[in-house]
Amino acid sequence: MGHLVIAVDGPAGAGKSTVAKRLAKRLGLGFMDTGAMYRALTLKALRRGTKLEDAEALVALAHETAIDLVDEAGRPLKVLLDGEDVSDAIRTPEVTNNTFYIARTPGVRAVMVEWQRRMGEKQSLVGDGRDLGTVVFPNAAFKFYLDADFDVRCQRRIDELRAKGVAVDEAALKRDLAERDHADFTRKVGPLKKAEDAIIIDSTNMTIDDVVEALVQHIHKQK
Ligand code: C5P
Repeated sequence: MGHLVIAVDGPAGAGKSTVAKRLAKRLGLGFMDTGAMYRALTLKALRRGTKLEDAEALVALAHETAIDLVDEAGRPLKVLLDGEDVSDAIRTPEVTNNTFYIARTPGVRAVMVEWQRRMGEKQSLVGDGRDLGTVVFPNAAFKFYLDADFDVRCQRRIDELRAKGVAVDEAALKRDLAERDHADFTRKVGPLKKAEDAIIIDSTNMTIDDVVEALVQHIHKQK
């Protein structure tokens, strides 16, 4: 297929990461979870005690940070922050709820976008995030926007956490997801937006397998 970038964007809890990872495996491409990168930098800022309102400090922090994604067959994506495996540490509610400070800072997004473009130049990949089809890879061969009703996205997150044995406060989770949606849709730089040429998939009534199959069909059809 030659060099190929496939962008999968959409709101939190739409199933993007799972779908993108499976699609990558199916097509033999790399996988890039850009949310994991924003999370990793958030974790570093929290540990350092960096003031999250201080845009300059966040940008400086981004410049002195190395984030690597290690995608090994059959294993969850490994996220390395300055060489340390933080794959689990970046999934805590504390990190999740503070990522928006990092995500709203234009100078930080610029650094992230550059890292992501470099990864996309090095290898063919499927990437998932919020701004891949609009900002990072405007020329991506395929752009998908994966959506699902709010209640279904909440329920998926609840099920996911419970499956891991985590106690869930449902009301708090719903409130947090609504806040994340709001922050994602309204930030000035790199907001969550459907690219004009994106294929929109509403996964409300679909399983993960259904969604992956739908994406594969679109890709084969257009090739
Ligand atoms: O996808 P995930 O929920 O792991 O992303 C974590 C946070 O990072 C999101 O709340 C979103 O605001 C931010 N993000 C972003 N741009 C991306 C990917 C994620 O701003 N491309």
